[in-house]
Formats: sequence, C-alpha cells, structure tokens
Amino acid sequence: MIFASLLNADFGRLADQVAELEETGLISGLHIDVMDGHFVPNLAPGPQSVTALRHRTRLPIEVHLMVEQPSQFARIFADAGAHRVIVHAEATAHLHKEIALAHQLGVEIGVALNPATPLHDLDYVLEDLDEVLLMGVDPGFGGQAFIAGVERKTTDCRRVIDSTGGAHAKLSIDGGVKVENAARLLLAGAHWLVVGSSLFSKGEIAESSRRIAAAMGVCV
Ligand code: DX5
Ligand code: ZN
Repeated sequence: MIFASLLNADFGRLADQVAELEETGLISGLHIDVMDGHFVPNLAPGPQSVTALRHRTRLPIEVHLMVEQPSQFARIFADAGAHRVIVHAEATAHLHKEIALAHQLGVEIGVALNPATPLHDLDYVLEDLDEVLLMGVDPGFGGQAFIAGVERKTTDCRRVIDSTGGAHAKLSIDGGVKVENAARLLLAGAHWLVVGSSLFSKGEIAESSRRIAAAMGVCV
C-alpha cells in the first residue's frame, strides 16, 4: 500500500493535488510530515493543514511527528483529524506514555526509527503499536537518497514483528522510496511504502502513482 507524503507537494495547489492522488484509487492514505526545527532542521505545517485536508478528502491521514516532546502535539493533530500519529523513539524517553495518550485520543499509534536507531528500541512496546515506520533517510527533507542498510533493517524488523506474539503493527518505510527500490522493499518485508518526491517531482501525479504501484506489483 502506498501512503503519499505531501512534503514535496505544490502547496499552492494542495487540494487539487490531493484530489488527483485520491482519484487514482492507488493511494491508501496521506502522510503529513510535521517538523519543529529542533528534532529535524526544517519546519513543516501545523494542524490547520490537517483540518483543511480532512474536509477535502476521504483518505486516512497519518501524521509523522518529527518533533521533540511529541506528546505535546498528539492531541492537536488528533483533534485536527489525523487517524494515526507517528512519534519518533529518539524524541521521547516515555514511549508508553505516547501510546497511552494515542489510545486515550482514539487514534492509532506508530513509532518511527531513524536509520541508525536499533530495532531493540521497539522491545516492550511492539505489541502496542499499529505501525512501525523505518526511516530510509535521515529525516527532515524530501528527495534524499535511500540509505542502503535500511533494506536489511526492514527484513530484520519484519522478522521481529512476525515472531512477536500479539504484534499487529504494519511495517512502513519512509524516505527515498522510488520506482527503482519499491519492489525490493516489499520483498524485504515492508507492508506499506511512504512516497513523496517520486509522486510529485515530475508534476504528473497520476502517472507517477501508476508507475510506483506497477513497480509494487499492483495491477493498474
Ligand atoms: C522525511 C519525511 C518523508 C519524506 C518522503 O523527513 O519524513 O516523509 O519527505 O519524501 P521522499 O519520498 O522524497 O523521500
Ligand atoms: Zn515522513
């Protein structure tokens, strides 16, 4: 399944571009990257964008919080219409609190790991997660090259999920996903792929969506 990261969308035409994505029938959800200028060296939109999109699309919206102290922000994005929030393990010492808060807010919860963060950060929380998101790049910017070692990490992570009783998390890869590596990442064990610049860079969103989906083996 493809989740569309809007980081590299044309924000002047965002509603049109989201409509175009939705019309393809190939996109399973929107992925909104939120950045605070501290956890990552970049800034990206606040909850108003999620509210605006919520009124424009039926696609589920996951919010990837690349922020310090994510629990400060989970509620405002849940209220804005996110159906899942994703927090970084590196950004909090209290993952169980983040999980409990998401449950209280009635949204799904994902945990993201930067490329160099070991999988054992998921020990003792995995059973409580809806999504594990492995970053394929150091977060902060779209359009970066995929870090090759994350392919092996994907295989290892899928093995851990499948062998952990009670774990139901979907494994998602975010950053550097392209036509060229999409099939390999699925083969390595990913359930979902987050795709940003490959959908938007050429300005032919529908065609780019079809190319990615075809590379993933989806009939288009
Ligand atoms: C990176 C973001 C990703 C990224 C995806 O910090 O979390 O969602 O923008 O974009 P591409 O596909 O261009 O790497
Ligand atoms: Zn992201």
